[in-house]
Amino acid sequence: MNLDNLLNKKLEDLASQNLLRKLRDSERLKVAHIIRDGKKYISFSCNDYLGLANDERLKKAAIKATEKYGVGAGASRLITGNNPLYTELENIIAKQHNVESAAVFGSGYMANLGAISALMEENDLIIADKLSHSCIIEGAKLSGAEMKRFLHNDLTSLENLLSKNRDNYKNCLVVTEAVFSMDGDAPNLQEMANMCKKYDAWLMIDYAHDLSHFTSNFQLPTSNLIIMGTLSKAIGAYGGYIAGSQTLIDYLKTSCKTLMFTTALPPSVLATCIESYTIVYSEKWRVEKALDNAKYFIDLDCHFHGNDTEFVGSQIVPIIIGEAEKALEVSTKLYESGFLVHAIRPPTVPTNTSRLRFSFSALHERKDIEKVTEILGKLI
Ligand SMILES: Cc1ncc(COP(=O)(O)O)c(C=O)c1O
Repeated sequence: MNLDNLLNKKLEDLASQNLLRKLRDSERLKVAHIIRDGKKYISFSCNDYLGLANDERLKKAAIKATEKYGVGAGASRLITGNNPLYTELENIIAKQHNVESAAVFGSGYMANLGAISALMEENDLIIADKLSHSCIIEGAKLSGAEMKRFLHNDLTSLENLLSKNRDNYKNCLVVTEAVFSMDGDAPNLQEMANMCKKYDAWLMIDYAHDLSHFTSNFQLPTSNLIIMGTLSKAIGAYGGYIAGSQTLIDYLKTSCKTLMFTTALPPSVLATCIESYTIVYSEKWRVEKALDNAKYFIDLDCHFHGNDTEFVGSQIVPIIIGEAEKALEVSTKLYESGFLVHAIRPPTVPTNTSRLRFSFSALHERKDIEKVTEILGKLI
């Protein structure tokens, strides 16, 4: 079969289901604004939650590191790409999560993919939340371990799987997200950690979208705990990490293929992340404001189309529409009114749960939140 013919057919199928995706040129500006096709929009679709990606201090840190070290790392971390800034950044991350050590990866996706596939193998069991991110699922597949899924944030469903299956496998890893990327909700981590202990399972928590860990001292037992995070969202730069015991990190640094066989991050990115952590700690208002903005949106009137949204302490608020076509239509109408709110469709979310995913940042203004709510209220 001719390759292009095959792919054209697949593209047509996707288009007929309203599931085709296209890249759009997007210029992000200093505030929550974005330029597309020469027009300015207020964006509720960025993960730069703390408004740091365009911060002057971060830019200066990047420029300084570029001037000193050049633009590229030149090799993988294990060869000559391990700039001393890695150690500085990894120490900050370990301290942040109150664990012994950390390993920085090229991205959050690479961190999950690499760590899960390095830790688990045939005859092991991975139990992941039904709504887990693609990089968790792909990492599990790559590992060769058996994978089972528990109902979203449902500890009874998790316990059922553990009690029925745990004894049939060598090692067991339970994976969840501290805040779910498309739903903005959170599991009870303490109870999950207790359950993992009871069934001799390891717990992996993805903190990619969680803001609360920057401001709270919440602590979980650290043994058998694997923490994952990203430097590409709240931190505003790029990269991902795994944090945990020194032994875990020593092992990953010598066995994780997505850390070993890829070029190290540019030094400018590492310097940016270090500067960003300093700002996050000294300007705590950023986390508070992002969360307050989400709460403000919900309090205004979120009873759209049967959505009875409650503030659950995260900056992500989904407005579930259902059909992909309808979600696209509402998103297009908002776009025509100057607001960018992406429609999220399958396979990112389950069928018939297409949604508008609002992500709030420290830089959104109340008047814009009021305006978008008013328009949305008329559309759904
Ligand atoms: C829950 C979750 N984990 C991991 C990632 C990957 O992180 P990164 O964007 O740094 O590759 C994402 C990205 O959207 C995510 O939502």
